[in-house]
Amino acid sequence: MSNWWQTGIVYQIYPRSFQDSNGDGVGDLPGIERRLGYLRELGVDAIWISPIYPSPMADFGYDVSDYTDIHPLFGTMADMDRLIAAAHDHNLKLILDFVPNHTSNEHPWFLESRSSRDNPKRDWYIWRDPAPDGGPPNNWLARFDGKSAWEWDAPTEQYYLHSFLAEQPDVNWRNPELRAAMLNVLRFWFDKGVDGFRIDVSYRSMKDAQFRDNPPNPNWREGMDPFKRVIERYTRNTPDIEHFNRWLREVSDEYDDRVLIGEINLPPHELVAHYGRSLDGLHLPFNFNLIYTPWEATAVRQLIETYEGVLPQGAWPNWVLGNHDQHRIASRVGADQARVAMLLLLTLRGTPTMYYGDELGMLDGEIPPEMVQDPWEKKVPGLGLGRDPERTPMPWTDAPNAGFCPPEATPWLPLNAEADTVNVASQRSDPDSMLIFTEKLIQLRRETAALNQGSYRSLPAPDGVLAFARQHGAQIRWVVLNLTGAAKSWTLPEASGATAVLLTTESTLPALTATTLQLRPNEGIILAIA
Ligand code: NOJ
Repeated sequence: MSNWWQTGIVYQIYPRSFQDSNGDGVGDLPGIERRLGYLRELGVDAIWISPIYPSPMADFGYDVSDYTDIHPLFGTMADMDRLIAAAHDHNLKLILDFVPNHTSNEHPWFLESRSSRDNPKRDWYIWRDPAPDGGPPNNWLARFDGKSAWEWDAPTEQYYLHSFLAEQPDVNWRNPELRAAMLNVLRFWFDKGVDGFRIDVSYRSMKDAQFRDNPPNPNWREGMDPFKRVIERYTRNTPDIEHFNRWLREVSDEYDDRVLIGEINLPPHELVAHYGRSLDGLHLPFNFNLIYTPWEATAVRQLIETYEGVLPQGAWPNWVLGNHDQHRIASRVGADQARVAMLLLLTLRGTPTMYYGDELGMLDGEIPPEMVQDPWEKKVPGLGLGRDPERTPMPWTDAPNAGFCPPEATPWLPLNAEADTVNVASQRSDPDSMLIFTEKLIQLRRETAALNQGSYRSLPAPDGVLAFARQHGAQIRWVVLNLTGAAKSWTLPEASGATAVLLTTESTLPALTATTLQLRPNEGIILAIA
């Protein structure tokens, strides 16, 4: 197997929070360039950078006002050209975020579109007449505030659709000119040498052509996320999405060795359709299901088997444990389980995507109310939906502002309280740190074909323990994970000959006999089978 995006590891950088190079408290492209050595040493293969394009920042860059330029906060096009070259010099692939479902309301396309009903770009967005009662054309809701997804435009007396903020109008992919313009954005960056795209909410890009109402959600109760009042039948994952996937794929196939990764929040059996009927869709429809599955051995094993079971022949799996929209893994499963989670992510069959800082066991930050940035938290405060906690600055050292920005600067989000101990420099000098553990794990994965491309098979295990085999040719590795805080005894499943513990989350080796492995609380290990 030769594709870098199959054997490799993707590392997500939230650019505002990685490394500030000019003292404005916001991370930037030269900052990322400065840290390429760190990423190479960590051992990842590709970086995916969340949006860096010009944007009014209503949704921190997911409201793009120019797809083919760089926001001055992040640097210049020359900085980007340099970053692409420097990443490649470090043997790192570079993946950008493509936001095709919506633009900013300040994008020149939208300014034209809203200027009059007969503007040539009117149909580039989704405009509709009011319902007979003058209200919105249907019951579709906007993410974040859960209010109508339709915004009234008084001058032209029509509504426009926005699946997210009103500042993020949805484009109309059924319009051939819009489509051509969007696809040329991909070509622009591919021509510059970008190695792939993560495609924002790709499964929302084709709405129901008949604009049918979504059915009500019978399980919704007052106090729940207001967006969940309806079931999203007609606003995402419509049958036409396969065309969208194929349009993008045709463009990436014009180039060698590129990857398309779709942001798709669906259960396994629906998710896998996005590979395309003859694998002519997205290379990697993101699999977020580990995030939504209880951290419990039986549930996790069931998920893995279900996903493995529905993957189309020849489709390559992938796994994600965190991103800029989800509470950090160490906060979700607890600091004691963070290493076990990392071990799982990096030993499952398929491409893993890591989130910056998770290699340190970074926790969600505490955001005082007056420092809230995320529009989601501002729209529906107190429901725990805000995403600032998982977007706090990367802690590099124990200096004030943790080396993220100069001591006298004000970071755009506060540093985590524990940044003086949980940071790269202090973990680098501690052989038992999460960072050193993660580096060893990545190194082992890189040099072990069974781990980076082998088959998957579940192994019997007692309650609370997840065990599986990875095999490539004659090479076999067993991964055994104690997902509990209690000691566990694991009986080796078959007469195995000599075995050796290659890696443990603990600082000393576990007790292993010819028949039994004693796992300590929260311990995960990789075994070699001779
Ligand atoms: C998904 C992105 O990950 C999220 O951060 C953003 O708010 C929405 N899409 C809208 O673009």
